[in-house]
Amino acid sequence: MQPGKFITVEGTEGVGKSTNIELIKNLIEARNIELVITREPGGTPLAEEIRELLLEKREEKFDPTAELLLVFAARAQHLNTVILPALNEGKWVLCDRFTDATFAYQGAGRGLPWDTISELEQLVQKGRQPDMTLLLDISVRIGLERASARAELDRFESEKIEFFERVRQGYHERVKQRPEIFFVVDAGKSLEQVQTVIERQLEHQLDLWCS
Ligand code: TMP
Repeated sequence: MQPGKFITVEGTEGVGKSTNIELIKNLIEARNIELVITREPGGTPLAEEIRELLLEKREEKFDPTAELLLVFAARAQHLNTVILPALNEGKWVLCDRFTDATFAYQGAGRGLPWDTISELEQLVQKGRQPDMTLLLDISVRIGLERASARAELDRFESEKIEFFERVRQGYHERVKQRPEIFFVVDAGKSLEQVQTVIERQLEHQLDLWCS
C-alpha cells in the first residue's frame, strides 16, 4: 500500500486557516481519499493537554526553551500515535500547523537558535517532513485585527505586533530553505480569490500525486 500524503497549513494569526482547511478537505475527499484532519499543538488527548499548558495565559513567565520542549513533546506524541500510523495505513493527513510553526514562533519569534530546533526536529521526526505546506501569508496588522475580533486572546495572540512580524519573517525564511515543499498564498485578498488560487494549485498537485 502507498503511504498517504502529509499536508500542513501554516500562517500567522487571523490568516484564515480554518476556512481554507475546510476547502482542502473537500477537494481531497472529492477524490475518495481517506483524510485525517488534525492540529498542532494537539491532536491527541495528551498533546491537547500540552496545548492548554502552552496557550493558557499565566503570571509566571514561560521560559522559551520550556515552551520549545513542550511543543516538541506534543509533536512526538501526535506524530507517533496519530500522524504516522494514519499515513502508513494509506490515509492522508491534513494538519493545522507543524514544525514550520516552531521555526517561526519559537525560532524567529522567541529568538531560539535555528540549529537547536533542527536538532529537536531530527530527534522527533527522523527526517519525516510534510509533502506539501500551504503558507497563508497576510499583513500582520490585518491578521491580528481579524483574530482579535473573534474571541478572547490566548497567550500567543496576546504578543506584540513586533513578535508576529518576526514570526512572519521566520515563515519566509523557511520558504527559502524548502521552496519545493511550500505553496505560498496571499491571504490578504478576498476569500473568493484566495480559494480560487488554493483550488487551482491543489488540484494540480492532486493530479500529479494521484496519476
Ligand atoms: P492555532 O491558534 O493556530 O491553533 O495555534 C496555536 C498557537 O500555537 C499559535 O499561536 C502558534 C503556536 N504554536 C507555536 O508557537 N509553535 C508551534 O510549533 C505550533 C505548532 C504552534
